[in-house]
Amino acid sequence: MGLLDGKRALITGARKGIGRGIALTLAREGAHVGINDILDDEVTKASAAVCAKHGVKATTHKGDVSTVAGVNAVIDSFEKAHGGIDIIVNNAIFPDQSRSLFETDEAYWDRMMNLSLKGYFFASQRAAKSMITQGTGGSIVCLSSVHSYVAMKDWTAYGIAKMGLRRMVKGLAVDLAGTGINANCIAPGAIVNTLPAKDDAIDGEPYNLDERPQMKARVPSQRGGLPSDIANAVLYLTSPLGSYVNGETILVDGGMIATSTL
Ligand SMILES: NC(=O)c1ccc[n+]([C@@H]2O[C@H](COP(=O)([O-])OP(=O)(O)OC[C@H]3O[C@@H](n4cnc5c(N)ncnc54)[C@H](O)[C@@H]3O)[C@@H](O)[C@H]2O)c1
Repeated sequence: MGLLDGKRALITGARKGIGRGIALTLAREGAHVGINDILDDEVTKASAAVCAKHGVKATTHKGDVSTVAGVNAVIDSFEKAHGGIDIIVNNAIFPDQSRSLFETDEAYWDRMMNLSLKGYFFASQRAAKSMITQGTGGSIVCLSSVHSYVAMKDWTAYGIAKMGLRRMVKGLAVDLAGTGINANCIAPGAIVNTLPAKDDAIDGEPYNLDERPQMKARVPSQRGGLPSDIANAVLYLTSPLGSYVNGETILVDGGMIATSTL
């Protein structure tokens, strides 16, 4: 028996990296999963296939979750395949997350906020609507970041978006009071997001901190973060274990923020 038997979970940006690890972990615990990504290729299909090995339904839902139309299309497609939705994990991000202050133009700002704030907000709103109609509660999880706590050069737009998510889940918790839905963020530290060497593994090759002395000095846990570290926190928040956690952000960073220097 799994912690999420029969639950239906949609994870955005889950082709690879942390999202893939979350999908695989929730599938291992019995959840039927939907893998959203803007890319639908062999890697996306392989991520769904490895989840299906756990005997759950695993589907792919190609779409851009930075627009309201895109979010609605992806959730409609997921609900059509699964008959409803119990868990949404807002995880998608584009690769160039760091941009200097004076190179942050309107187009980049809009791109960042559209995906990381607007998309996460409207996906949560749309999923919550269905969860309320179903009447069986649910969970909303947003991927924030250590960059929402401290400033590091050239990460300002990203940090603002990720900080906004921490406020967003507090608002969702209040606005969804009495519905049985909890809404929370996870703020990861430095997590490897490459594909694992073995198809059915969750984690890629961890960072070797001996080759990264700066990171070693900043991470009290003295190892690189893994998708499974984040996925286990998502599992906690979306299962009965974490049902009384609401409007909260959990740092999963090996203690990086405790050192107060990124
Ligand atoms: N990896 C880290 O060290 C780290 C640290 C802190 C926070 N995070 C957060 O964790 C989450 C996952 O990060 P990751 O490193 O695993 O990312 P990743 O780059 O490995 O994966 C992100 C996925 O999102 C997809 N994507 C991009 N734009 C999209 C869109 N518009 N619609 C749908 N899908 C889209 C990409 O194709 C990609 O597959 C992100 O929210 C990120 O900000 C990551």
